Amino acid sequence: MAIPTLLTRSIELSSALGVDYLALGFVISSEGLVTFPESKKLAREIEIELGLVFADELSFFAPSARAGEIYEIPVSAPGVKCERVIFIGLGKQTLGDLRLAGAALGRKMRPSEKSLFNAAVTSQKGIRAHALAMLLGAFQWNMKTGQKRQLRGKWYLTDNCVADIESANVIGKAVWLARELIHTPSNIKTTAWLAAQAKKLDRDACLKVKILAGKELTQFGGLLAVGGSSPKPGPRMVEISYAPRGSQSWPHVVLVGKGITFDTGGISLKRPYDLMIAMKSDMAGAAAVLATISALPQIQPKVRVTALLMCAENSLSATSQRPSDVITQYGGTTVEIINTDAEGRLVLADGLAYADAKLNPDYLVDIATLTGAATLGLGRQYAAMYTRDATLAKKLSALGETSGDRVWHMPLIDDYVKSLDSDVADLNHNASAAKFSAGSVTAALYLEKFVGRRKWVHLDIAGPGRSESDAGEYSKGGTGFGVRLLIDWIAGLS
Ligand code: BES
Ligand code: MN
Ligand code: ZN
Repeated sequence: MAIPTLLTRSIELSSALGVDYLALGFVISSEGLVTFPESKKLAREIEIELGLVFADELSFFAPSARAGEIYEIPVSAPGVKCERVIFIGLGKQTLGDLRLAGAALGRKMRPSEKSLFNAAVTSQKGIRAHALAMLLGAFQWNMKTGQKRQLRGKWYLTDNCVADIESANVIGKAVWLARELIHTPSNIKTTAWLAAQAKKLDRDACLKVKILAGKELTQFGGLLAVGGSSPKPGPRMVEISYAPRGSQSWPHVVLVGKGITFDTGGISLKRPYDLMIAMKSDMAGAAAVLATISALPQIQPKVRVTALLMCAENSLSATSQRPSDVITQYGGTTVEIINTDAEGRLVLADGLAYADAKLNPDYLVDIATLTGAATLGLGRQYAAMYTRDATLAKKLSALGETSGDRVWHMPLIDDYVKSLDSDVADLNHNASAAKFSAGSVTAALYLEKFVGRRKWVHLDIAGPGRSESDAGEYSKGGTGFGVRLLIDWIAGLS
């Protein structure tokens, strides 16, 4: 679907009433009055023009002004184009509330809705979050024939905060891109297809894209072991770099994303089978790093960034790896395969080891739909974040709250490292669950073996990477989790 753009325009009476639909945010003050923060004057002028008292109209509904609550009233005033006023509750106007309100408004803009908007924006405090949430709430994906692919109308926002709205447009576009990739079904989304999507970024002068396949991957034993299960087209590693002129002296961030285009579990087949349906989303980490780097040419941070997409399908076939196989990860570590459904750590480990050996990163970040255990622990609202760097953890936790991609700092528990011991290889890749539990922690400990002495962060997004329903800024399916967080973090490093 075509990605929408928010436009800015000074919202005055003439422009507000010159569109079909008008949106106004409202709150309920302590005296129980309905008010329109920061657009009070405009609201008053519109009331006069339409011959209405908004508080009276709203009192008919007994509104609570909960964030995201929506009421629509039809209007018909002679000589006025506006046919409907939409009220959105702003709650207590916290960032979270403004996001919920924006998302509710965004849903009204979906192609399946009849909408043409002039949204007179209601709060300038959180306008970036609010505007971005509008874009995210509007997202819809399907392959229905005859479905409109374009959002209706033009969306105007106040011109008071042009830079914030521009930023929302850039990030919104990136999140949409991630979501489109995640939603694409796996029969279309082969590893070659995913690499080809990345290759499109090559058109931008600031981005370079390199695709490794076949013999070029000889040293990438994890990628080969997993991706060999689906030899046509086989695994790919995509390396995208943002390195504008002069960037050699800037900090270097390497992002590694899990790009499993479908996860059947392999020979250790995923059960119950229903669990598998969601596994087209198992490349959400790769989608997040691709989308993040795609936005950088517009943001121009003084940070060098390399994204590694570790792409493979974990399939069930005669060429699948077997439980008890021993493979060699990039850099030479041998690994005893226990459960072929723990494939994510195998492809990530190659990427991390390669980054450590070849790319000299100042920060090494991986993002992956890695373990069901992370979802068990934290649910779907927070990603599990692992790092030994307390400063970085604090920073990312704070940015998680402001960006909306929230992360929870989890412990790398040294006592559990011995769960990675193997009788026959350097490591076993699946800490025997019965003895240690903590599946998300032991997966992180496995990855840590491959990061050398780098400043490293691991984000397990198995929970928030996918939403089972339309909720807040998330639409059902892939959420694009991580894009907002990573972009805000990188932009702040320069
Ligand atoms: N892709 C899954 C993790 C997952 C589960 C993501 C549910 C999103 C929703 C991963 O490859 C996996 O299968 N992990 C196993 C690891 C286990 C075999 C050690 C898991 O979590 O059960
Ligand atoms: Mn798996
Ligand atoms: Zn997986």
